[in-house]
Amino acid sequence: MTSPLVLGIETSCDETGVALVRGSVLLGDAVASSVDEQARFGGVVPEVASRAHLEAFVPTLHRALDAAGVRLADVDAVAVTAGPGLAGALLVGVAAAKALALALEVPLYGVNHLVGHVAAATLDTRTDGADGDGRAGGPLPDPTVALLVSGGHTSLLAVHDLVTGIDLLGETLDDAAGEAFDKVARLLGMAYPGGPVLSAAAVDGDPTAFALPRGMTAPKDRAAHRFDFSFSGLKTAVARTVATAARSGVELRAADVAASFQESVVDVLTAKAVDACREVGAGTLLLAGGVAANRRLRALAAVRCAEAGLELRVPPIRLCTDNGAMIAAIGALVVAAGSPPSPPDFGADPGLPVTTTAL
Ligand code: KG4
Ligand code: ZN
Repeated sequence: MTSPLVLGIETSCDETGVALVRGSVLLGDAVASSVDEQARFGGVVPEVASRAHLEAFVPTLHRALDAAGVRLADVDAVAVTAGPGLAGALLVGVAAAKALALALEVPLYGVNHLVGHVAAATLDTRTDGADGDGRAGGPLPDPTVALLVSGGHTSLLAVHDLVTGIDLLGETLDDAAGEAFDKVARLLGMAYPGGPVLSAAAVDGDPTAFALPRGMTAPKDRAAHRFDFSFSGLKTAVARTVATAARSGVELRAADVAASFQESVVDVLTAKAVDACREVGAGTLLLAGGVAANRRLRALAAVRCAEAGLELRVPPIRLCTDNGAMIAAIGALVVAAGSPPSPPDFGADPGLPVTTTAL
């Protein structure tokens, strides 16, 4: 029996994503981004994002169907991001998904954006027609540790089962990793979103040029915050470095600041992630979320996993940032687990916890 065809819809922030997944195979997807409209404000303006989703949804849906070579009538189930995210942005996707599910007479599942990021690594992306970064995917070993690093969240998860068994080991106490990239990039006069721009600049920089702090790694933090993160002290240290240089007329190499900042972030992220694998007895570390697109993070994680005898799983780079494929992926797993559809009156939940995979 062939697996059901699942349509995934993502509108939690500034990307409108639609994709089609059958089983664990990504058939095709499309993303429209309002990032260019947001860039002039230096961050995401919720109202701008909501309006952009409204305009982009139908064309993006058609592009995804074309890419997958299927028709709307072929769809067996719809999955949509119910949270966490921006309330107005989420509502556009949830309303569209409800309309589609009702019209097609198929079940609808409101799913968790964060779990979707992790589920992206289970997709078989070898034949979806995208770049050559595809991989076989497949189920996750139990347990797997997931390092979830995005613009809004930074968490370490013990994943036993993506649908029914996710434990939160720790999370950031202040800024998310992606948020820290965005804020430091702005400090250095770089465009929004700062992560990709800053990491590109860091390629030519010296990561040892500035001695920057490693948040939440002091011996006193080990007991209470072993798997928690903090990036606000690092951000302040960079701000102070830049201000001191400006005052004394010293010209800083932005590439060196970027590389030193990036190294502090990825050093702490990978050290804690490997420690978490040891703690829960996991043989696999998975990176997920927008910051998992960072090449230095991927490279250092590969080195440290090899040293520790761990397998490293990462989604293709283009599926690390927000997209519809990750939502179709978790939707397909929820359907395969036999979970009941979400109640018809479910709404957007901007604060949905990572431990709730589906409503
Ligand atoms: O997962 P995502 O697309 O949206 C959220 O759910 O937040 O993550 C977006 C975040 C932004 O903060 C962006 O700057 C960061 O991911 N990001 C990166 C890179 N690409 C995206 N950070 C560091 N290096 C990158 N290459
Ligand atoms: Zn995201």
